[in-house]
Amino acid sequence: MIIICDKCQTKFQLDVSSIGKTLFKVRCSKCKHIFSVDISPKEEVYELTRHNEAPIRRIIAICNQKGGVAKTSTCLNLGASLSLAGKRVLLIDFDVQANLSMILGQTNQPSFYEVMQKEIEILKTIKNVRPNLWLLPSNAKMSLLARQCLQQKDFGLFLRNTLEPVKQHFDTIIIDTPPSIKFFTPNALMAADFVIIPTQGEFLSMNGVLQTENIIKVLAKSHTLDYRVLLTMYDERNTAAKMVFSKLKDKYKGKIFSTVINLDFKLQESQIINEPIIYYDEKSISAIQYKALAKELETI
Ligand SMILES: Nc1ncnc2c1ncn2[C@@H]1O[C@H](COP(=O)(O)OP(=O)(O)OP(=O)(O)O)[C@@H](O)[C@H]1O
Ligand SMILES: [Mg+2]
Repeated sequence: MIIICDKCQTKFQLDVSSIGKTLFKVRCSKCKHIFSVDISPKEEVYELTRHNEAPIRRIIAICNQKGGVAKTSTCLNLGASLSLAGKRVLLIDFDVQANLSMILGQTNQPSFYEVMQKEIEILKTIKNVRPNLWLLPSNAKMSLLARQCLQQKDFGLFLRNTLEPVKQHFDTIIIDTPPSIKFFTPNALMAADFVIIPTQGEFLSMNGVLQTENIIKVLAKSHTLDYRVLLTMYDERNTAAKMVFSKLKDKYKGKIFSTVINLDFKLQESQIINEPIIYYDEKSISAIQYKALAKELETI
């Protein structure tokens, strides 16, 4: 074994096999310096690399056949809250009304329709609308889709297949759907693995939840599809709303978000100036609640 004097750096050959110790002292025959030699086997140190947890990729459809229950508002504001928490979020406006595109100031842009016509690649239609937040817009031509595609084979899988090369770029994809069950909603449900069913605290709205739940149950036989009901536009001063809320909690035990979105006029103002509520007034009740919803979603 080669030993080097740590004072004069002279090299010596030493037969350590007869010493019988792993730690001993030696004297340099050149400079007379005495120093320790440690020949104990070194513990191997393995380099730890940070475990990068693969983000939970989720495709969420926001559905309820009933109109005006805050599907679009939830898509926008939940998406914005997730993006603020660092997730890369794609919102898909899958509604001919194109309300989501309008709120985000993206009207008359190429949509899923042009992608289906092979006029444009899907990635080129996707617009970055805020930090970490993207939008696949809708436009009036989307109304042609239902008629053109219903005759085609596997028309229910069009969105799912189209999203295949896009999925990898985002942590969460949220699809806004129209208040109907034709073409758009089944396509969104076939592409999704999770459904949020927003509902108002009104008696007749409960019927919309039930119908949506029934469709989900049928589709869940062919692919993974979980769901939660979300109470929106809740007004605590309204006794009927309180009664409906209590009924919903009973009926959808374990399937209803504990976060509730209150009726908040700040949210309506935010849409007029084309902003998600968290950018318009982060201290407003609905901004706080949509952020809480984003957190609750992470626990499911
Ligand atoms: N928390 C809230 N507080 C007050 N107003 C709200 C709230 N959420 C939504 N709204 C308002 O309610 C109306 C309907 O909301 P939204 O467009 O999101 O519903 P929708 O379910 O997407 O409707 P549609 O079925 O027509 O697509 C809008 O004017 C919106 O600004
Ligand atoms: Mg809508």
